[in-house]
Amino acid sequence: MESVLGVPLRLLVLLLLCVSKCLALQITRLSIPSFVPNGSEESVLLDCEYNYNLKEDKKLVVKWFHDDDPNPVYQWIPELDSKLYSDKYKLDEDYEIPSGNAYTRSRAINIQRPTTELSGTYKCEVQSLEGSDDMEDTMTVYALPTSVNLNYTIADGYVKVVCEVEGVFPLPEMSLFQIKPKTVVMSPLNDTELEYVLDEGAYDIEFSTTIPEEDLPRPSDGLTFFGCTVEINGTEYEKEIKVPYFPNPVAEKQEGDDSDDDNGSSIAKARSSKSRGPEVS
Ligand SMILES: *[C@@H]1O[C@H](CO)[C@@H](O)[C@H](O)[C@H]1NC(C)=O
Ligand SMILES: *[C@@H]1O[C@H](CO)[C@@H](O)[C@H](O)[C@H]1NC(C)=O
Ligand SMILES: *[C@@H]1O[C@H](CO)[C@@H](O)[C@H](O)[C@H]1NC(C)=O
Ligand SMILES: *[C@@H]1O[C@H](CO)[C@@H](O)[C@H](O)[C@H]1NC(C)=O
Ligand SMILES: *[C@@H]1O[C@H](CO)[C@@H](O)[C@H](O)[C@H]1NC(C)=O
Repeated sequence: MESVLGVPLRLLVLLLLCVSKCLALQITRLSIPSFVPNGSEESVLLDCEYNYNLKEDKKLVVKWFHDDDPNPVYQWIPELDSKLYSDKYKLDEDYEIPSGNAYTRSRAINIQRPTTELSGTYKCEVQSLEGSDDMEDTMTVYALPTSVNLNYTIADGYVKVVCEVEGVFPLPEMSLFQIKPKTVVMSPLNDTELEYVLDEGAYDIEFSTTIPEEDLPRPSDGLTFFGCTVEINGTEYEKEIKVPYFPNPVAEKQEGDDSDDDNGSSIAKARSSKSRGPEVS
């Protein structure tokens, strides 16, 4: 009967399909370094290993892509001995896999002195008449901050705490905290604001929050500290800085003690004592 025969026949077809599919061109390993320091590595290798079958896989083409760029970073057609390079990526055009053969030796890309702009997702794509496969992974070229600064200003009854980070890539993990008098507990400061600009492949960041002066401990309770932490994923980089908070001694200040010096804190003091004036009267 056909239905009885039909079942094994279908299985056989499936099996045959699998044999050709399962033996078809396939990427077996993609090696892309996850984190690379900016500008200091002589070169990094992005490799794409595949199994291919000389008889089946005619017209082999190997391509590498970066992020959403439709133009390949690199393309190799072994049979034509044709290689195309995008000049955006500073590829070493002489690089060959040491153990490679005519169908594998130019499959990898070797990026010379990668910089932060070359971070992103890299995809290796292999094609032949018999099949195709692709695989992708990300590489982050990081730059540690050139400076990290923590400071605060006091104005109109509010304390603005600002942590500034310059020349960093990618965006770091950051936190602002305070340490209350006579404790060691870092309590997070809430309602933080993140502002940044990307300039020449690195971020300049201002991470800040504003706290009403009256929510902060009084000086008579002891010293309060503000702190900022900066970490960069995938690296050992970890920075923590603290500054002591000195509240405005409003009560002791004379009103109109508004001298013409360019001392930021004394201007803040003057303003804050003025803003309190009317409340009292
Ligand atoms: C990365 O390194 C290059 C030198 O190779 C340097 O010119 C560039 O400023 C660096 N970028 C960052 C963000 O540090
Ligand atoms: C804090 O700000 C003052 C005045 O604006 C400045 O002189 C000082 O250098 C800053 N401190 C830090 C650690 O940046
Ligand atoms: C921040 O918010 C958390 C949860 O709402 C709270 O427990 C904590 O006390 C707040 N931190 C500060 C400094 O206000
Ligand atoms: C850093 O890694 C953590 C956990 O792996 C993740 O939740 C976070 O989004 C990462 N931060 C950035 C800025 O990529
Ligand atoms: C200016 O600020 C510094 C430290 O912040 C302080 O020592 C100095 O007394 C201030 N000058 C005046 C005129 O208030």
